[in-house]
Amino acid sequence: MLKRVVRRVGYAGPVRRTITSSSGLGRVTGRFVGGLDEVSAVAVAQRLRAQGMLTTLHVRQGNPVDEAGADAHVELYRRLVAQHVEAGLREGSEISLKMAQFGLLAPGGLDGAVERMRATVADAYAAGIGVTVDMEGIEEVDVTLDAVCRLRADQPDVGIAIQAYLLRSEADCHALASTGARVRLVKGAYGAGPDVAHTTRATVDSAYERCLEILFAGGAYPMVASHDLRMVEAARAMAREAGKGRDAYEIQMLMGVRTQDQVRLAAAGERLRVYVPYGPDWYGWFVNRIVEKPSNVRLLAHALVSP
Ligand code: FDA
Repeated sequence: MLKRVVRRVGYAGPVRRTITSSSGLGRVTGRFVGGLDEVSAVAVAQRLRAQGMLTTLHVRQGNPVDEAGADAHVELYRRLVAQHVEAGLREGSEISLKMAQFGLLAPGGLDGAVERMRATVADAYAAGIGVTVDMEGIEEVDVTLDAVCRLRADQPDVGIAIQAYLLRSEADCHALASTGARVRLVKGAYGAGPDVAHTTRATVDSAYERCLEILFAGGAYPMVASHDLRMVEAARAMAREAGKGRDAYEIQMLMGVRTQDQVRLAAAGERLRVYVPYGPDWYGWFVNRIVEKPSNVRLLAHALVSP
């Protein structure tokens, strides 16, 4: 209920206009977003690298419904890869793609999107930069798994996000682990009904732990993407029990969320990767980060006073 109210307030015209009216990002909004272009985003990545953290950068520029908009995303990611190279940030760096950015909704559909993603994957790996594909709504799960399977035929290192809240995900984790895939395990952000998903915090958390066990026991490279420290500690314990070194898995968190824990875990020797979104379409991302935690509402208020 509270989340719905905060989301409605966040998207209300005057609030949105006030917060986005400045030409750059304010101190509060900039906590969650790496800037408006690849130059500022890679500068954020450099700062995080200096603190011992890795990054995965993601462009926010809407989901195109035409071929030109989808082609533009290939170019945006090409510029992002080039900027990493210019900044000397190659090894260990990663970019995160969403299928919808590459034209899933455009006339070329799945095949067109896979072709464009293939071009971006080739650009990234030629520069020594990894790629993971985000998971979106329930309708996109099959096509995303299909696309990643096709991309991995050329480049087996391409990773995929799996949402623990989906009832199918334990089976998907088994299948992916058996092929040695890199799997970013998330709780799931899109919401789904009880016919396809766990819907309570307790059942989602247990499903997350079961998926972790499958990934650690199988041949996967688990990417433990959660701010829930119980999940993070469960993963660290599983890795120890399985005799896996710290290069056999990694922990991922979003930019601006639990930053002290990010620093602490990196200092403790964990591979810690920060997901950094950037680009003109940053506002929805910012509101979602506010909505995730009730006490963040004061950040929204602060952004209104000093955008
Ligand atoms: P949970 O929501 O239980 O949060 C645990 C604790 O973390 C909270 O109690 C709070 O203390 C803290 N916290 C969480 N969010 C906060 C915030 N905004 N501000 C302050 N504190 C906060 N989802 C998806 O469907 N597809 C995807 O591809 C991805 N990709 C992705 C990449 C990475 C690197 C991460 C970290 C997450 C995603 N997600 C995602 C989002 C994911 O599904 C999930 O919605 C969020 O991570 C929140 O779930 P947690 O596991 O963090 O636990």
